[in-house]
Amino acid sequence: MPRSIIAGTGGYLPARSLTNDELAAAYNLDTSDAWIAERTGIRRRHMAAPGESTADMAAAACREALAQAGADASEVDAIILATATPDSAFPSTATRVQEKLGIHQGFAFDISAACTGFIYAVGVADSMIRAGACRSALVIGAEAFTRILDWTDRGTCVLFGDGAGAVLLRATDEPGERGILSTHLHSDGRHGDILQVEGGLVRMAGREVFRHAVSKLASAVDEALAANGLAKADVQWLVPHQANLRIIDAMGRKLGLPSERVVVTVDRHANTSAASIPLALAEATRDGRVAAGDLVLMEAIGGGLTWGAALARF
Ligand code: COA
Repeated sequence: MPRSIIAGTGGYLPARSLTNDELAAAYNLDTSDAWIAERTGIRRRHMAAPGESTADMAAAACREALAQAGADASEVDAIILATATPDSAFPSTATRVQEKLGIHQGFAFDISAACTGFIYAVGVADSMIRAGACRSALVIGAEAFTRILDWTDRGTCVLFGDGAGAVLLRATDEPGERGILSTHLHSDGRHGDILQVEGGLVRMAGREVFRHAVSKLASAVDEALAANGLAKADVQWLVPHQANLRIIDAMGRKLGLPSERVVVTVDRHANTSAASIPLALAEATRDGRVAAGDLVLMEAIGGGLTWGAALARF
């Protein structure tokens, strides 16, 4: 049975970046850099330019992932894109990316799982590769999240940013250690109202989300390790969803990882929802931290509630 390996990673961030103070001034917010940084670790975020679409950002991330893999767009036969901020209900943002990359074969579709979207997309793509439905899949998390923020709600609008990340998953029939080892997806719709888009804007009960995050992420991580007969000490890198530094630190401590083994971008990117994990992966492979053979644990939680984990050997 084929397995999928991560052949390349890519990321894209819009040019405009605002510090907490610049954001507060631009939107006349009653907040402070100290309040935001102490509670979340966020110091700045990127914002898409007017007219810059989710598909534009996704396509840019894909171009880097293809280049890193030494792949041509003509080999791609699946595009699976996770987003909470699609450019339209249809056509899907994935088919828009397909068009931008000049890909005319295979299939493309979007996945809606909020901040867990990238883990879901990897799970779906990996399952389809194992089933023989495709051989080469671009798996994307892309968000223009600042377009769905209520700029009068200081409890949410300071937390999010825009960007896109992508990986190229390729089927291999060779035996070996590399690749996606397993993915673990969960949801519980009973908690849908604590983090949702209502009337087009994000609403969040922050404390409730925080409470669920720590326990659900911890159980997803335990599940991923147990499924592969691995111990915490086997994990070389934690690449978590980037919502809040306190949650990230708690997961790093749970795994017994030194902080330099936890990839953190939340300080510069804020929460880019489905894009946060592939953006962090792109950064950590680009700068050489995550190298061939490394065992990487990814985890995320988001609206739905949805949550999950994935283990991959690069
Ligand atoms: N600046 C200043 N004060 C703010 C503020 C801001 N940006 N946002 C909220 N406050 C105020 C509130 O109005 C409230 O004031 P009050 O006590 O006078 O009513 C006070 O700070 C506490 O608000 P609360 O929402 O209880 O804060 P908190 O300590 O729970 O921190 C979060 C808020 C959002 C940072 C925190 O709940 C959190 O990180 N939750 C998880 C969010 C998350 O990860 N979401 C994404 C999951 S994908």
